[in-house]
Amino acid sequence: MLSQAPAALGSRWLLHSVAAAAASSVAASPACAGLASRRSGAASSRGLAAGPAATAAPSSLPPHLRNLHSSPSSSNGSSGAVTPDPSSAAIAGTPPGGDPGPAATPGPARGEPGTSPGWTLTLERGIGKSYGMEAELQATAAFRAEVFPDLPIATTWQNWAKAIRSSLTSPPAEDPSPPFTHYATWPGSQKVITVAANLRSPLEIEQRVAAAAGDGAEAAGGQRADVLLCVSGSHPVRTLPGVASLLRSSLDTLRIADRLRARGYIPPSTQLWVVANPNTERGAGLLERKAELGADAVLTQPPLDWMAYLAWLEDARRRGLLKEQLPPGSSHSASSSSSSSSSSSSSGPLRLIVGHPMASSAANLSFWVSLAGCGGSAAARQLVADAMRAEAGGKEAAAAHTASYNNKLVEQVLAHGGVAGLHVMPIGKASKALALRMLADGSLPPSV
Ligand SMILES: *[C@@H]1O[C@H](CO)[C@@H](O)[C@H](O)[C@H]1NC(C)=O
Ligand SMILES: *[C@@H]1O[C@H](CO)[C@@H](O)[C@H](O)[C@H]1NC(C)=O
Repeated sequence: MLSQAPAALGSRWLLHSVAAAAASSVAASPACAGLASRRSGAASSRGLAAGPAATAAPSSLPPHLRNLHSSPSSSNGSSGAVTPDPSSAAIAGTPPGGDPGPAATPGPARGEPGTSPGWTLTLERGIGKSYGMEAELQATAAFRAEVFPDLPIATTWQNWAKAIRSSLTSPPAEDPSPPFTHYATWPGSQKVITVAANLRSPLEIEQRVAAAAGDGAEAAGGQRADVLLCVSGSHPVRTLPGVASLLRSSLDTLRIADRLRARGYIPPSTQLWVVANPNTERGAGLLERKAELGADAVLTQPPLDWMAYLAWLEDARRRGLLKEQLPPGSSHSASSSSSSSSSSSSSGPLRLIVGHPMASSAANLSFWVSLAGCGGSAAARQLVADAMRAEAGGKEAAAAHTASYNNKLVEQVLAHGGVAGLHVMPIGKASKALALRMLADGSLPPSV
């Protein structure tokens, strides 16, 4: 699977997902994100997890905090000047040096008591050559947040070697997309920047966090991230026994981002999101750890093994991890309608945002199945087989099948509850067209 060349797809998110799927189920990682900017701090962040009690006014942060650990000798103004490649070096103004010490001052509370956002659609954005391809979807204004992937260091040994070589000898390759500090969303849509741990040091993780969500992005004319999606990012090395423990995980990323938020380097309203793979994670134990570390929401891989998804969902609900938010008018009859109001866990519940693949062909499904690491699942293989059979029946049968599959997935997810939204991942033209059609006919309920 690692030898697959998903680069052709243009979505870098997919790239590191491939690696993640290959690595282990544990590789699925979370991201962190923020709902409201510091300026509009009034906004919609939910007061979820028990945060530090103190509530320093975020707006009182002196400008010098823009640069993490800035020192006179190396400080070079805006930390927003950022290289788009995570594997390349540090943000200007950040001297080499260290892990921040133990969290000292309690920061502002995580979220002002505010209204929880309602039903949420999020959109996977392409970067690199695919940057800007979602314009039509964005213009529907159906998406509350847009999620930008992190550049993986590599997904194969060959790519890894190439990445290392190129970072030594040349600037980041020709890339039509702006640096991540300048990725732009549809007005009003939250910007979600993925922070992969990969082979980064804690300092490098800090730098990306601060560059994405700190003051520097706007100072440099970019757009601040409202949300950080904390993922492991993974790497082929992870598959070697013993090596994984040396690599940073999404939990490290989450801890670092939470600490920077508590210390005021990024606004207190910045949300931290994480990821999960219900197809392969046995139970929601890993999600619970992420919730304890302050995650506000979780994005999942598409539920391709439906029974595995249900088992994972059930466990997450049993642990009181989820905050439900169904679209208006949805009549989810099935099972318990109990939203996780009975949250028993010490941290606040998370919003569950379930991945939707917008699969437009059997090949797409097959791709997602291997991406999600569930090629061994009979249920997942059946999905592909069904689509292939439909394709054998001609173009129309195939189109009817994919339309029905994508609609039914939404219905099923809604019917079982526990969710707060869907993460739409329309790679490719046909998938984008599908998503547009589903928004138009109402089968994909827009954010409210
Ligand atoms: C600061 O930026 C200038 C150019 O803008 C550069 O020449 C100089 O090396 C930088 N200093 C540091 C410490 O990065
Ligand atoms: C998805 O399917 C379309 C055809 O509907 C195809 O053009 C595209 O390459 C596929 N993408 C993947 C990742 O399989």
